Amino acid sequence: MTITESQQPADRQRILSGAKPTADSLHLGNYIGAVRNWAEMQSSYDAVIFIPDLHAVTVDFDPTTLARRTRTVAAQYIAAGIDPEESTFFVQSHVPEHAQLAWALNCITGFGEASRMTQFKDKSAKQGTDSTTLGLFAYPTLMAADILLYQADLVPVGEDQRQHLELTRNLAQRFNTRFGETFTVPEATILRDTAKIYDLQNPTAKMSKTGESVNGTIQLLDDPGVTAKRIKSAVTDDDTEIRFDEQNKPGISNLLTIYSVISGKTIAELEADYAGRMYGHLKVDLADVLVEFVTPLRNRTNELLADPAELDRLLAQGAAKARGIAATTLGTVYDRMGFLPRKQA
Ligand code: TYM
Repeated sequence: MTITESQQPADRQRILSGAKPTADSLHLGNYIGAVRNWAEMQSSYDAVIFIPDLHAVTVDFDPTTLARRTRTVAAQYIAAGIDPEESTFFVQSHVPEHAQLAWALNCITGFGEASRMTQFKDKSAKQGTDSTTLGLFAYPTLMAADILLYQADLVPVGEDQRQHLELTRNLAQRFNTRFGETFTVPEATILRDTAKIYDLQNPTAKMSKTGESVNGTIQLLDDPGVTAKRIKSAVTDDDTEIRFDEQNKPGISNLLTIYSVISGKTIAELEADYAGRMYGHLKVDLADVLVEFVTPLRNRTNELLADPAELDRLLAQGAAKARGIAATTLGTVYDRMGFLPRKQA
């Protein structure tokens, strides 16, 4: 039997992922470690790509800024190649089942287990006990709900999400054992070579939205001149050899990883190209290549942002599709947990 196009979706594995709208732009680490892979996987998998805005309010936030950033991330996903017609593309708060399933999962998660989440420990230590909320503590169970609601098989993320994925798997298995087979136990898809892009000023810390140094992060919506400047002022080392060695040459290794992803050349090819040349040459070339790469991405994002009504329409269409799946899973969960069925009045 030949497989027709309409039969394919049911056979395809499902991937699910998202990036928080907590900055004015996604950064190069988000793109290389995550978004790029979603766009590549989209044609062979059933892709669920969403904007976790409920997660964005677990740290300090401003309502007007949040709304703007949520549309910006939506536009950046599309500019980076996510097709809102092919993928299920939506905003988390538009699908109330996320918060509902998160509550159910909170009630099977140990306090000690949640306390061991390193992202919680880092963030709460950074912002102090007074501004640490219950929401931040429950962040990982909301993330588990995001994944389990859609019965995702694979979750393509960067290295920093590994522990959250482990918790998600544990919760899925725990629920299945206690209440009967309900959830697919998902696998993390973490691409080894690009799972962690480092801060340009502090190349042993990951590039992040809230990085210590503004100059260490490349925002995809930055002015191209700023992008070039940040690459040229990236911290390297006292040596002169252009060689990939994460242990002893973290700055140069990070630049080589970025260069390799953006140019499509392997690290070995780049090492050969730059043998006997100086760090400055590598930086100037990488700055050019990167500017050439981010400029169309930036222009396309700005074009999409100029029509917020169309973005909202695409997000509404995606939320309707997402709810179809999410409501079915939540219905099974509620039933298995013994909640009375809700009858029509
Ligand atoms: P977020 O918004 O911090 O990051 C989005 C994605 O980008 C990856 N990433 C990186 N990859 C490589 N190098 C870096 N420097 C770098 N910085 C970030 C992250 O690993 C992530 O894949 N908790 C998630 C959002 C989320 C989610 C989900 C993800 C909520 N629910 C369900 C997957 C499935 C987060 O904070 O991502």
